[in-house]
Amino acid sequence: MTRVQKVLNANLVGRQAEKLDRNLHKRIVGQEEAVDQVVKVYQTYLAGMNNQGRPIGTFLFMGPTGSGKTRMVEALAESLVGDARAVIKIDCAEFQHSHEIAKLIGSPPGYLGHRETHPLLSQETLNQYQTEQCKLSFVLFDEIEKASDALWNLLLGILDKATLTLGDNRRVDFTRSLIFMTSNLGSAEMSNIISPGMGFVEAAPAADSRLWDKISRAGLDAARKKFTPEFLNRIDKSVVFKPLGDEQLKKILDLELGYVQQRIFASAQGVQFVFQLTDAAKSYLLREGTDMKYGARHLKRAVERHLVYPLSNLIATEQVHAGDMLRVDLDSGIDKLIFCKEAEGLPIYAMASQVYPESVPPAGTAAIMVKEQQAGHRRAS
Ligand SMILES: Nc1ncnc2c1ncn2[C@@H]1O[C@H](COP(=O)(O)OP(=O)(O)OP(=O)(O)O)[C@@H](O)[C@H]1O
Ligand SMILES: [Mg+2]
Repeated sequence: MTRVQKVLNANLVGRQAEKLDRNLHKRIVGQEEAVDQVVKVYQTYLAGMNNQGRPIGTFLFMGPTGSGKTRMVEALAESLVGDARAVIKIDCAEFQHSHEIAKLIGSPPGYLGHRETHPLLSQETLNQYQTEQCKLSFVLFDEIEKASDALWNLLLGILDKATLTLGDNRRVDFTRSLIFMTSNLGSAEMSNIISPGMGFVEAAPAADSRLWDKISRAGLDAARKKFTPEFLNRIDKSVVFKPLGDEQLKKILDLELGYVQQRIFASAQGVQFVFQLTDAAKSYLLREGTDMKYGARHLKRAVERHLVYPLSNLIATEQVHAGDMLRVDLDSGIDKLIFCKEAEGLPIYAMASQVYPESVPPAGTAAIMVKEQQAGHRRAS
């Protein structure tokens, strides 16, 4: 044995956890605590230090509507298994009565319709999105405050022992699952602290940490009042999501515009073009899409209404073609967005490098790019 005296840095995280942290920060705006907690749990799992016989992580997300609770889980799935839809979502409000619970776990043998009911929460469902690189499942129970007693009991079993017994006595194993629960509980109390009698705020209170502590405590108190200690003790981490302010919505708008551009690129129609918005056009969308009561959800609607619908019209009426570059500006006279073609005939690889600056474009696009480049070489030679 050699004696050494070396101070180690326990704050350093591994490369995979760091990559996840980066990916989540790229997708989620203004919810640092939630990102940190999820990355911590992932790092614990990678190191093999998570509790055996329990789900890998259990989280309770609270806070206002449209603040990124569901998006956080989708972004995690997207980062780890490459698909935002790889989340098994259970809307607790839909499973109030015993026959609805049967939809979730299937009915016992002998019951009418037993053979026809395929439980929504089977092992196959749980494993379906796992990849070679990542053998994890993501399960989201939305609005848990609306769960019936029967659903609570199932949930407690999953959180505690990582198992669920189906109607026909088969067992579903949740030891490779991350469980997320969301609740809007305490939202009214929280918004009252920020602006009494009104909805959510003009500017997010993130900058004022004392005010934020108070809001966060109000959320957690509401959870303590509603949920039993038995339940709360089984949760690894409760996080209150912050209401989004102007600055965060501005960043989310840029993300959403990027997603629209990627949608155009991945579109089955094959009309791949690029668009750019002027600052005035962005301000218009922010103005139209800011409603503090609905968070970023309202902003997404404004993007659909004022940008995606008109772009779809332009595609359908063949006013835009593959290789076009559009500029979207604000016509302040009529207070509406206007669309101008600025260039045409852009090569697809030039457009793809704008659309996917850091990543590899989707498989189909890569194939088109190769073909175009070959055609380019042929023309050149
Ligand atoms: N913090 C955020 N960062 C990035 N995008 C966000 C954020 N918050 C919301 N969004 C955008 O708004 C949409 C709606 O948000 P989300 O579904 O996550 O709301 P929620 O907090 O789950 O609300 P609810 O309590 O009503 O279920 C998301 O799909 C995403 O596009
Ligand atoms: Mg949600």
